Amino acid sequence: MSKFLKVLSLGVSLAALPVLAGAAQAGDPDKGAKVFKKCAACHAVGENAKNKVGPQLNEVFGRTAGALDGYKYSKAMIKAGEEGLVWDDATMTTYLEKPKAMIKGTKMAFAGLRKQEDLENVIAYLATFSSAAPAAEDAQSAAEPETAEAEVETAAANATAPAPAPVSAMREGGVLGLGRVATEDEVAAWDIDIRPDGEGLPAGSGTVADGEGLYSENCAVCHGDFGEGVGRWPVLAGGQDTLTEERPEKTIGSYWPYLSTVYDYVRRAMPYGNARSLSDDDIYAITAYLLYLNDIVEDEDFELSNENFAEIHLPNEDNFIADDRAEEPHYADKSEPCMSDCKDSPVEITMRSRILDVTPGSVDDDDAAGMGGVD
Ligand code: HEC
Ligand code: HEC
Repeated sequence: MSKFLKVLSLGVSLAALPVLAGAAQAGDPDKGAKVFKKCAACHAVGENAKNKVGPQLNEVFGRTAGALDGYKYSKAMIKAGEEGLVWDDATMTTYLEKPKAMIKGTKMAFAGLRKQEDLENVIAYLATFSSAAPAAEDAQSAAEPETAEAEVETAAANATAPAPAPVSAMREGGVLGLGRVATEDEVAAWDIDIRPDGEGLPAGSGTVADGEGLYSENCAVCHGDFGEGVGRWPVLAGGQDTLTEERPEKTIGSYWPYLSTVYDYVRRAMPYGNARSLSDDDIYAITAYLLYLNDIVEDEDFELSNENFAEIHLPNEDNFIADDRAEEPHYADKSEPCMSDCKDSPVEITMRSRILDVTPGSVDDDDAAGMGGVD
């Protein structure tokens, strides 16, 4: 799953939390607004909130303590953050009860809130300025009354007061009120990536024989009956043993490292101009047929499915290596790159870029490619 999608789905799992948060947390944001007057001398929230004596408190839930850019925290707060303190309703309750008891050396000159309801209410109020819910994943159990006494108190409170309206910790569109949280269906429609190990594959199957029909109907006009490519449309088969040549033919069979890319790409983008028109089973069948066109499977009855998918390896897989640059000493210790006089010997040309004939109208003869010209 890409980072982008991770963020989206995080958004969604949090969206599901307000119900829990509402159950665990009885705070009333309107009452919290009054409590916040005690904080407002030092903290701002809402549109254009600036840091004052204390940091602005928009999006504070889910934020690491002491981590807001541009605000100068005490060493104690920064250290607490580095040690893993993240603001949620449990940690914030402890902090606001007695700031100095929790973080020795915090520069927040505030004695603390004594009343449980003030704490709950101010947290509910702050939650309206955060797109993340205040409840940490395990906050519900943490918020469960621990002592019999507390249970009695809660029971009494529930008996006298009408059931508190669930506090929605999500303000639609976050602090700025822009956009909305993606729905589960939307995320599912986007979340279609498939990993080399097969993770993400939909359940389904299709045979080479089925794929042949589907391919000639949907793909052959551009890619040719045998994947040879019509005109300048991409070639999908053949090219084995050309990788070391001046102009290698990079196809699924000759070049691509993983079958997952074939399934993913065809499902996502093909047929060109009518993407996402084929069913998951159709894509299995077409992928099986592409394996057949590339001589990777030979049996027309071969059936590709989510179950045997990961067993198929493309011939060129081993020539791909993991990008471990980040572990090279030069990158690992984040040393400053050398920018001048970095080499004592004269500069030599060790490699030339080639003309890849991808843009119609670009220089298109092998001599030019051999010359290493760049246009
Ligand atoms: C007299 C000024 C003052 C008051 C009043 C005050 N704060 Fe603070 N607050 C600060 C300062 C200063 C810091 C930074 C603490 C540090 O770096 O040690 C801070 C830090 C915080 C943080 C941590 C933020 C972060 O980015 O890590 C939270 C949360 C917070 N305050 C909430 C509140 C709330 C809620 C109230 C009211 C109930 C309140 N504060 C009252 C001055 C104040
Ligand atoms: C209308 C023409 C057209 C049709 C029909 C079509 N494709 Fe494509 N296909 C393309 C184009 C154009 C590209 C290159 C797109 C790009 O690079 O952005 C492409 C790229 C591909 C690639 C990647 C090739 C590579 O080496 O990068 C595969 C695999 C592929 N198509 C499979 C299919 C399959 C399977 C079908 C039928 C379901 C299909 N295509 C239908 C035009 C078509």
